Amino acid sequence: MLLNRDDWYETSRDLDWTLSYVDPAEAFPTSWSGTDGVPAEAWQKWEEPFRVSYRDYVRIQHEKEAGVKAVSSALGRAGLFEKLDPAHVAASQLHMGGTCMVEHMAVTMQSRFCRFAPTPKWRNLGVFGMLDETRHAQLDMRFGHELLKADPRFDWTLKAFHTNEWGIVAVKALFDDIMLNADCVEAALATSLTVEHGFTNVQFVALASDAMAAGDINWSNLLSSIQTDEARHAQQGFPTLEVLMEHDPARAQTALDVAFWRSTRLFQTLTGPAMDYYTPLEKRKLSFKEFMLEWIVNHHERILEDYGLKKPWYWDEFMRSLETGHHSMHLGMWWFRPTLFWKPNAGVSPDERAWLREKYPTWEADFGGIWDQIIANVQAGDMAATLPETLPVLCAVTNLPLGGACAPHEVMDHKTVYNGRTYRFDSNISKWCFDQDPARYAGHNTVVDRFLLGEIQPMDLGGALAWMGLTPDVMGDDVYSYAWAKEYAQA
Ligand SMILES: [Fe+2]
Ligand SMILES: [Fe+2]
Repeated sequence: MLLNRDDWYETSRDLDWTLSYVDPAEAFPTSWSGTDGVPAEAWQKWEEPFRVSYRDYVRIQHEKEAGVKAVSSALGRAGLFEKLDPAHVAASQLHMGGTCMVEHMAVTMQSRFCRFAPTPKWRNLGVFGMLDETRHAQLDMRFGHELLKADPRFDWTLKAFHTNEWGIVAVKALFDDIMLNADCVEAALATSLTVEHGFTNVQFVALASDAMAAGDINWSNLLSSIQTDEARHAQQGFPTLEVLMEHDPARAQTALDVAFWRSTRLFQTLTGPAMDYYTPLEKRKLSFKEFMLEWIVNHHERILEDYGLKKPWYWDEFMRSLETGHHSMHLGMWWFRPTLFWKPNAGVSPDERAWLREKYPTWEADFGGIWDQIIANVQAGDMAATLPETLPVLCAVTNLPLGGACAPHEVMDHKTVYNGRTYRFDSNISKWCFDQDPARYAGHNTVVDRFLLGEIQPMDLGGALAWMGLTPDVMGDDVYSYAWAKEYAQA
């Protein structure tokens, strides 16, 4: 007779034994588990936030998979993709290239929980997390593969992480660090709690809702299906934080504060432009800032309060950055459009600009003048003046361009000298992140460092594009061929 889950769950979830053939410190090195300073028995308090058996898990996941597949094949037959707005398509290409391999990296992170987490309850949940992330990477690849025939840019779903494209290097730098390089405890705080439980909502809930409004039911459906898994396995962060708060609250505070800022900067790059510039105007729901306030700011404040943590010291600067950080990134990305593998939408037609002004009262003063100059150059047919000639300095932590993280056109020099080398940062906050653990970032060369070191040859834009893997068939250009600029009266 089959027992009910509740009859055996209590025993199986905590199945462990005392190691006698090997030294426990060798079987579970603290460099992998992250348990330094936390006594072994403290982990007995780690209670899994959700209960699932393998049998239930497989059944539910099977249903989810069947759902995604049914929608995708029906829509494929209906030829829906061809009817989508090209600026919206760009958002899906940016998402696929930027996140597919992150899902795959998350498989490795979850498998570290399975093997090195300090309690069998957590190791058990890691198995489900690992299966989730395998599914996500595969869903993305199937989505990209099906659309390859329509647009070679979907090749970058898989390809992006095997290139040196500068934005992808920034994504990789964060996730290499908080998924592949982090011990279990840190990964639970930085990835599970901060990214998966918080920031993925911007990408997977907000963007899914915009995608649905834009008519991209297939992609919206895929994002929502992934999010149901994220919402579940992200909860591994909470019991970990609870244990750490009893034994090393200072470490918890620093780990969360670093992760929160680094995530903010990355999502300003990945999601900010997609929501406020690429999504067709009439389909937009909330602005990026509104969504951040509702889903990230409130949510993070609540977690900090519940667990007895303080707001990060940089909170005011972070709030200011919600007004400008992603607008600066968008302007920079559009300007450097040949270095992208999607076609960005400038998103500043007169109507779109009115929307931006309404949502961001300082937008016109901060960015209007620069876009006016671009518009004048386009109208005069001087396209060379709308393209980059020099390279920006990149931040040694975020790998994003300097100037504009917290205030538009910021020129203040944030730097640290470490072991005789000078490192520059996009903000005082990124400098602080570096200073918490310089050895962690010091060995990395940004794309521009590599350029200056002569690793990119020939040392011009063509050489850089080839080095980044950007071929003419995918290289970015304005998605509407500058039609928006012509809507303005000739200067
Ligand atoms: Fe995932
Ligand atoms: Fe995840």
